[in-house]
Amino acid sequence: MSNLHSKIIGCGSYLPEKILTNYDIEKIVDTSHDWIFERTGIVQRHIASENESSVDMALHASLKALSMAELSANEIDMIIVATATPERKFPSTAVLLQNRLKIQQGFAFDINAACTGFVYALDVAHKYIQNKAAKNILVVGTEKMSSLLDCTDRNTCVLFGDGAGAIILSESNNPGILSTTIGSDGSYKDLLTVDIDSEFIKMKGNDVFKIAVKTMGKLAVSTLQKNNITINEIDWLIPHQANSRIINAIAKKISLSNEKVILTVDKHGNTSAASIPLALDDAYHNGSLQEGDLIMFEAFGAGFTWGSALLKF
Ligand code: COA
Repeated sequence: MSNLHSKIIGCGSYLPEKILTNYDIEKIVDTSHDWIFERTGIVQRHIASENESSVDMALHASLKALSMAELSANEIDMIIVATATPERKFPSTAVLLQNRLKIQQGFAFDINAACTGFVYALDVAHKYIQNKAAKNILVVGTEKMSSLLDCTDRNTCVLFGDGAGAIILSESNNPGILSTTIGSDGSYKDLLTVDIDSEFIKMKGNDVFKIAVKTMGKLAVSTLQKNNITINEIDWLIPHQANSRIINAIAKKISLSNEKVILTVDKHGNTSAASIPLALDDAYHNGSLQEGDLIMFEAFGAGFTWGSALLKF
């Protein structure tokens, strides 16, 4: 492996205009704001309009990331989109995005690793740069989770939201991504899935919760060990935003103070592959993240899939 570094040089995000609060959901199913907030930490989520697709959301986020990176779309040589809610079965969301960016060079493809999709995409992008196969990669997580929700199923409809987040990962002389780890185990395929007939999310919430806590806790510990890093050196944990109780359990497992955890699940709900880049962009724009900060990403999703990344911002 070469010593070439890859670094995030721009980020951007997009959230649809419509906000659905827990109080709004109380009017649709038998639930309450208090139940949702206490079990998940979610207060509200954004919902895309009927004619707004995951490509539309990805485009908004990508343009912002390009602007921050001070790159034109013509300088992008690879696009990876992580999504489980593509606009079409094919062409891929990444190719549709390439077209909306009015570029024809390079190559583009999607990754589906459910809620871990963005970390999988980052792992791939990092390796393309290390192998000198690409220089400026647009990596996007975009999801219209509302399209998979049965709004009469209180077990799932309260949890998810829509949105997109994008980063530009570029070849760099300075360290950026320090390491990535990804994994999967398909024996859990039925605990969190999209039903083939109804095309709605079906989930055994309680089982998913326990395995998510266990897997992500172990992963956080092994990511620190693998990199010879102590918890005191971490500036920020940016975990997949599914449930604040899962996130608190991971922070506790690695003895990380809650002040160092970026939390957006209250505002965004679970936006699947979009959640980490959305949280990253939120933290950057509210002034929390500073250049040089050491960040750990951690994700877990259907499959099950999981992944982590350690990086210097
Ligand atoms: N409002 C009110 N009550 C609800 C409800 C809702 N939205 N959803 C479920 N309930 C009820 C259940 O019917 C059950 O009632 P019962 O005891 O009368 O049968 C009770 O609440 C407890 O259900 P349970 O599923 O055991 O709750 P929980 O404490 O596990 O919380 C989740 C449910 C979904 C919030 C929690 O399991 C969770 O967050 N799981 C992980 C989900 C996730 O993150 N998925 C994505 C991973 S990427």
